[in-house]
Amino acid sequence: MRDPMTTTLPTAVRPPVRTARPRHYLMCRPSYFTVDYRINPWMDPAKPTDTALAVLQWERLYALYQELGHTVELIEPVPGLPDMVYAANGATVLDDRVVVARFRHPERAAEAPAYQAWFEQQGYPVVHPAAFTNEGEGDYLVAGRRILAGTGFRTDPAAHAEAARLLGRPVVSLTLVDPRFYHLDTALAVLDDDEIMYYPGAFAPESRRLLAELYPDAILAEESDAEVFGLNAISDGRHVLLPEAAGRLAERLAERGFEPIGVDLSELFKGGGSVKCCTLELRHRDLTLGG
Ligand code: ARG
Repeated sequence: MRDPMTTTLPTAVRPPVRTARPRHYLMCRPSYFTVDYRINPWMDPAKPTDTALAVLQWERLYALYQELGHTVELIEPVPGLPDMVYAANGATVLDDRVVVARFRHPERAAEAPAYQAWFEQQGYPVVHPAAFTNEGEGDYLVAGRRILAGTGFRTDPAAHAEAARLLGRPVVSLTLVDPRFYHLDTALAVLDDDEIMYYPGAFAPESRRLLAELYPDAILAEESDAEVFGLNAISDGRHVLLPEAAGRLAERLAERGFEPIGVDLSELFKGGGSVKCCTLELRHRDLTLGG
């Protein structure tokens, strides 16, 4: 029998039921985190950082993933590489295929071989060093069948075709124009295969048009939420972990049936990163890999 209530209620008051899919992540403890150089506008070497607090805040995120049923692998931090905590930048992993980052700034260059070695030790069958500058999942976001790829500040536009070839997926190139949002993952987050949220002001006009066309129902973030890195978020299809300061965005997510979870990563924000930057997703085809 049909319940007349369910057929007459406007869809806006009944958000879809969201289901979480267990994920596999790679993280790097911020044991050597500090800000002693400046490669993005958020970093100020004159401002003190508290490494112990960074570790505590990071531990909370690490525990939260596990409480939500996700598996988290760890890569050993390397002394002298303070930004290595931003594991999202180390590589892009899809169907067990790994494209290792090639960093734009010399300060981070040595992270690439560390990530490459980790993937090789774990037995990933295909670990490609990249020919073109790309900062891993900082600029490559997997959204269903496509890869949304950022350029403008870090990743070389020529790297996009390389990623499409090596990962075997179509790539949509997007140009970032606001230096505060220098990586795609600071301006856009994938919530589900074909749902995203983003801050339009971070993108060039043609990229904005493209996003509006591909994702007409996207959540559009306000500048105040983007500025606290609200878009540097991780979704498992249901739970969305994002900086706790992004209050308006959390409300919008809840309206859509997601479960926003605010996280305090104020120390890592001083390096220009938050939740997503600290998290690299390991997308496996071969389920025997890495647990
Ligand atoms: N200090 C780092 C840099 O500027 C922060 C990286 C943040 N990572 C990210 N996925 N957006 O490279």
